[in-house]
Amino acid sequence: MKRKVTKAIFPVAGLGTRFLPATKSIPKEIMTLVDRPLIQYAIDEARAAGIKEFIFVTSRGKGALEDYFDHAPILESALRKKKKHDLLNTLKSTNMDSGEIAYIRQHRALGLGHAVWCARRLISNEPFAVILPDDVIAAERPCLQQMTEAYAETGGCMVAAMEVPADAASSYGVLDVKEDMGSMVSVKGMVEKPAAGTAPSNLAVIGRYILTPDVLRNLNRIKAGTGGEIQLTDAIAQEIESGRGVYGYRFRGQRFDCGSKAGFLQATVAFGLARPELREEFARYLQAMASLPHAAQ
Ligand code: UTP
Repeated sequence: MKRKVTKAIFPVAGLGTRFLPATKSIPKEIMTLVDRPLIQYAIDEARAAGIKEFIFVTSRGKGALEDYFDHAPILESALRKKKKHDLLNTLKSTNMDSGEIAYIRQHRALGLGHAVWCARRLISNEPFAVILPDDVIAAERPCLQQMTEAYAETGGCMVAAMEVPADAASSYGVLDVKEDMGSMVSVKGMVEKPAAGTAPSNLAVIGRYILTPDVLRNLNRIKAGTGGEIQLTDAIAQEIESGRGVYGYRFRGQRFDCGSKAGFLQATVAFGLARPELREEFARYLQAMASLPHAAQ
């Protein structure tokens, strides 16, 4: 029987340079879509998939993240006194129980693979999920839940995959497909950020993974790859070389790259329009704005 996936690593130790100056003092993961920080979307998705232990790989300057998950007794009692029960429930739904959450430091931003490796002692010998909170996925059934269900059939390593235009492939890890089974593909190779025109397919890896502990052992040996960083893709690709199964999963849902400004703005519009209480007024506003050349200047 395959072991259930109950632990997830959230690597949040990157520098977030694309959002400077905001990320000079705010972690990228605290930036909000409508009224919820990116990290809350990631936590909710993980919980829906059955995750019980949340491991954050953090770095200097990410204190606001730890505060965010702390209980807020003063705020709670103020809302209770004012009988603002809905807000109180919203607030409480973000609390993490003691022992549910762990923080590990990545002392230098040496890459995603290195960030995952930093959490190795908290994983031991079991499969685990990796969630990149800056990839926000709107889906009827949360993406990681779709993946854990598929993983229960296949075992091995599984990465979330989506079709991207050929000229965008060099921004992603790209799958070399062995067999296409529809929502699932088996993989015979993986390349991180292939040079233009050399991508083995248009199936790109995005920020959801289910990995076996073998990947952590591979990371023990891996040297810096593309961009001088220790790449998670390389450690997963080694699994293929060792003859173990690696799968790409075409999730159903819409992914927003909230690590980029354009993606973040698109997500803000999409999640804003998805709120019944905002939709009508916001849609009207967007229509009016779209016809103006310099809306906010
Ligand atoms: P990104 O490639 O988006 O890098 O990392 P970044 O530093 O967050 O942002 P930019 O490119 O400077 O704007 C993808 C994910 O991997 C984590 C990041 O926190 C993000 O969740 N990461 C990356 C680490 O935890 N450590 C690293 O050394 C690198």
